[in-house]
Amino acid sequence: MQKAKDFMDLPLGDLGWLPALLLPWYKKNARDLPWRRDREPYHIWLSEIMLQQTRVAAVRGYYLRFLEALPTIQDLGRTPEDYLLKLWEGLGYYSRARNLQKAARKILSEHGGVFPQEYAKIRALPGIGDYTAGAIASICFEAPIAAVDGNVLRVVARLCDISQPMDTPAMKKWTAASLSAVYPPGCCGDFTQAVMELGALCCIPGPHPLCESCPCVNFCISRQNRTQEERPLLTPKRGRRQEFYTVFILSCEGRIALCKRPGSGLLGGLWQLPNVAGTLSLEEALQKAQAWGLSPLAPEQTLKRKHIFTHLEWRMTAYRIRCAQAAPAFHWVRPEEMEQDYALPTAFRQFL
Ligand code: ADE
Repeated sequence: MQKAKDFMDLPLGDLGWLPALLLPWYKKNARDLPWRRDREPYHIWLSEIMLQQTRVAAVRGYYLRFLEALPTIQDLGRTPEDYLLKLWEGLGYYSRARNLQKAARKILSEHGGVFPQEYAKIRALPGIGDYTAGAIASICFEAPIAAVDGNVLRVVARLCDISQPMDTPAMKKWTAASLSAVYPPGCCGDFTQAVMELGALCCIPGPHPLCESCPCVNFCISRQNRTQEERPLLTPKRGRRQEFYTVFILSCEGRIALCKRPGSGLLGGLWQLPNVAGTLSLEEALQKAQAWGLSPLAPEQTLKRKHIFTHLEWRMTAYRIRCAQAAPAFHWVRPEEMEQDYALPTAFRQFL
């Protein structure tokens, strides 16, 4: 067995048996997903970016709509950012969309509009990390390179019964090296997807993996050791930071006030309901509205909501206030316009 000094002296996982068991299982059990109908790099790339942090069920519709609106890398490169963000609205992690466009522009300017085939060139595109580069290289170009995300870490942690935290750079490298060493020539794309599929259908997250339906049940070391429910070990999470905001749902003659967020940073460039840091009382909120030149009429409703990001939680107090005057500080937008043209992230959309 190969020693891998980089990987904390843990020998590579012994997975030579895996492709022969997993590939026939995958052929029989693979879900029919829209991004499995071809191996066009643009399609696979888009699906893998959307599937980061987002469930398959949610991605399906977005994926199909996106490709209908922007069927080629050229279309993606040339589309206005507002239109792109509108297509992404509700998926979250909007920097994914912006990076997608940056990468499309790089493909147009540096690769003659053709998606690059080499792993290093794919990895060098904006927004593409080791996982996505491995997925594209193996699925589209049959490179024997693993794509390691949280699901794949879990599968391998159980198959090899790894008793140390898996979510470290060293263990990600170890997992990628252990899998890449056994990639079956000619079936690399299927093997990448088969490992993902095992994680989605049998080796599921949480304490109750479906070992009875798993093709690897007789080879799985954690199953033999009865530790499968404890795998994968993860490093303890630090708590989410909380931020407090007061949100204004300002209406005037059927229109709602919106403003644009700064171009960079969290939800950069998206639209938002006007808001200020901290939790204002109703009285303070009315004063604020007055200061914006709004002539607030009756306050109609107070709502408390939260929105959770990966490392951050917004605690929001919202005041619905009818105004006599549509002050020019804001964009005053009709509901149908909002649906058509304004990308409003879920954190704010929940108030409407
Ligand atoms: N999760 C990440 N990539 C996936 C894929 N290609 N198919 C299904 N689920 C996935």
